[in-house]
Amino acid sequence: MRSLLRNNPPAVTALLLQFTACALVLFSLRLSGLQTTPLTFALLCGLLAAIFSYFAGLARWWQVIQLIFAPAIVLMLTLAIPPGFFLAAFLTMLVMYWSTYQTQVPLYLSSNKVWRALEGLLPEQSFRFIDLGSGLGGVLTHLARIRPDGHYSGIESAPLPLLWSWLRSRHLRNCEVHWGSLWDCDLGEYDVVFAYLSPVPMEKLWHKARAEMRHGTVFISSTFAIPDQEPDERISVDDLHHSTLLVWRM
Ligand SMILES: C[S@@+](CC[C@H](N)C(=O)[O-])C[C@H]1O[C@@H](n2cnc3c(N)ncnc32)[C@H](O)[C@@H]1O
Repeated sequence: MRSLLRNNPPAVTALLLQFTACALVLFSLRLSGLQTTPLTFALLCGLLAAIFSYFAGLARWWQVIQLIFAPAIVLMLTLAIPPGFFLAAFLTMLVMYWSTYQTQVPLYLSSNKVWRALEGLLPEQSFRFIDLGSGLGGVLTHLARIRPDGHYSGIESAPLPLLWSWLRSRHLRNCEVHWGSLWDCDLGEYDVVFAYLSPVPMEKLWHKARAEMRHGTVFISSTFAIPDQEPDERISVDDLHHSTLLVWRM
């Protein structure tokens, strides 16, 4: 059972456990003939879902979400907010985060200080740079202006960040962004590969980089380490998140 759940993204596991908890509470209440208020019913579902999530090995913050999910729905329903509001909120989140439930790489942005630290890692002569998961295009557009002798590409899977970065970069002749998955990129085309993702894909990304990147090119991960792979260089950035650039010379 645990391995079945482990093969799913955490969001899918959480939803399955939430449904299971609600079905069990409903079944138990029917069997016992007890009556409850909707809020008590939701609290029981939340409690059971949180317990299931603990035993399924979901992260602690998922357990908290599981606990408050059903009660929050009941409380929101009492506010009589028009359903269109929830649809709009859902669609906004969808175009902003797209497949985050699967990739486990949400949108958050590199600081200006990271952009500036990256300037010092670019090759001296003309080069090709890619930002894997380019978000709103801040890294690309900054570097494209500061170092116009480079060519900058971004690959982004979420539609709204892609649109934003396309609008931002459309006047720059040396900068382009594409919609797609970073796993479909050939990293052999680039002199500098930059990634600011999450701990989840790093090991797989390292294997891809090792297989595809050319000798002498540079792989940079902002903040997230690669298991068992010491970087050649670490650059601490004095920003709000205390970012670190981890640099591998391939
Ligand atoms: C942490 S943000 C980094 C944004 C930007 N690189 C920066 O440094 O400001 C990661 C981005 O990667 C995107 N992403 C996640 N998985 C991806 C994938 N498999 N292919 C393409 N983009 C992906 C997310 O949508 C998100 O915008």
